[in-house]
Amino acid sequence: MNKNFIPAQAIIREIIRENEQIATFRLELTNKRLPFTFLPGQFLMLSVPHCGEAAISISSSPDRLPLVDLSIRRAGELTTAIHGMKKGDQVGIRGPFGKAFPIEDFANRDLLFVAGGIGLAPLKSVIDHCLFQSGLEEDAVQSITLLYGSRTPSDIAFKQAIESWQKQGVDCRLTVDEKDSTWNGHVGLVTELLTDVTITGNTKALVCGPPIMIRFVIASLADLGCGDESIFTTLERHMKCGMGICGHCHLDGRLICLDGPVFNVSQLKKLDVMEFAR
Ligand SMILES: Cc1cc2nc3c(=O)[nH]c(=O)nc-3n(C[C@H](O)[C@H](O)[C@H](O)COP(=O)(O)OP(=O)(O)OC[C@H]3O[C@@H](n4cnc5c(N)ncnc54)[C@H](O)[C@@H]3O)c2cc1C
Ligand code: FES
Repeated sequence: MNKNFIPAQAIIREIIRENEQIATFRLELTNKRLPFTFLPGQFLMLSVPHCGEAAISISSSPDRLPLVDLSIRRAGELTTAIHGMKKGDQVGIRGPFGKAFPIEDFANRDLLFVAGGIGLAPLKSVIDHCLFQSGLEEDAVQSITLLYGSRTPSDIAFKQAIESWQKQGVDCRLTVDEKDSTWNGHVGLVTELLTDVTITGNTKALVCGPPIMIRFVIASLADLGCGDESIFTTLERHMKCGMGICGHCHLDGRLICLDGPVFNVSQLKKLDVMEFAR
């Protein structure tokens, strides 16, 4: 039987509470005999006792192995159950699955990340990986800009990571839909932040968040001259096997677990998934 059917045990080593709804679970694989490696954009099937499985993107960089981070928003039974777990508890993981972001094409590029809420999770893996590489290689990325939107200031997740990225030269621009007395930053949709960003032929844009946000950001990026093959996003579908067998994630002749979850806009336009007509 393929090893990807059988969950490997992993121990929760650390829990970072990102906000009220999102926490990052730092896992360590306990079975050292399993060869495990992944690329940014890939996902795991996470199992929690008596709750089944859910697809979760890996939010850490491969450079952090054997530790793997999963940033999880409380949604239903499984995600609520893991939010109730503590350091030292065990979960199961299968994978990694799915197509990754084409990080091999990101050398010497200006990378623009546009995220909303938990959508920063898979992009965080790319940012951390690029920053790690830039310390090692001459042909690392040219620049990294992050535009990150949250509903309110208390919904802003990944604050620790954002602070660390800023110290490493990432241009991080945050916005909230609704401000409170603690906030003196930008208020408005994340698309508004795009007006102050320069897009060139060297730009690669990675977009992740709620479907409505993705749709408007992609449209704005296209208006600013970003080509279809230079804009990447991820699609979410309910998944069961995660590996192209059950057909649960079928969409327009494609299996999102195998053909995605990462797609460029040129590929998305061939799927009946979002209205891209402008
Ligand atoms: C490739 C991939 C990567 C993902 N990465 C992450 C991640 O990094 N962090 C994270 O918190 N979640 C992620 N998800 C979403 C996560 O898998 C689902 O929210 C999962 O269903 C949660 O399980 P649950 O038992 O807690 O909730 P469930 O009881 O399964 O669902 C709770 C609610 O969310 C809805 N829902 C569940 N899955 C989806 C979906 N795929 N699309 C739209 N609505 C859905 C359900 O209809 C229900 O209303 C990812 C999903 C995919 C496919
Ligand atoms: S989840 Fe089974 S085929 Fe994609």
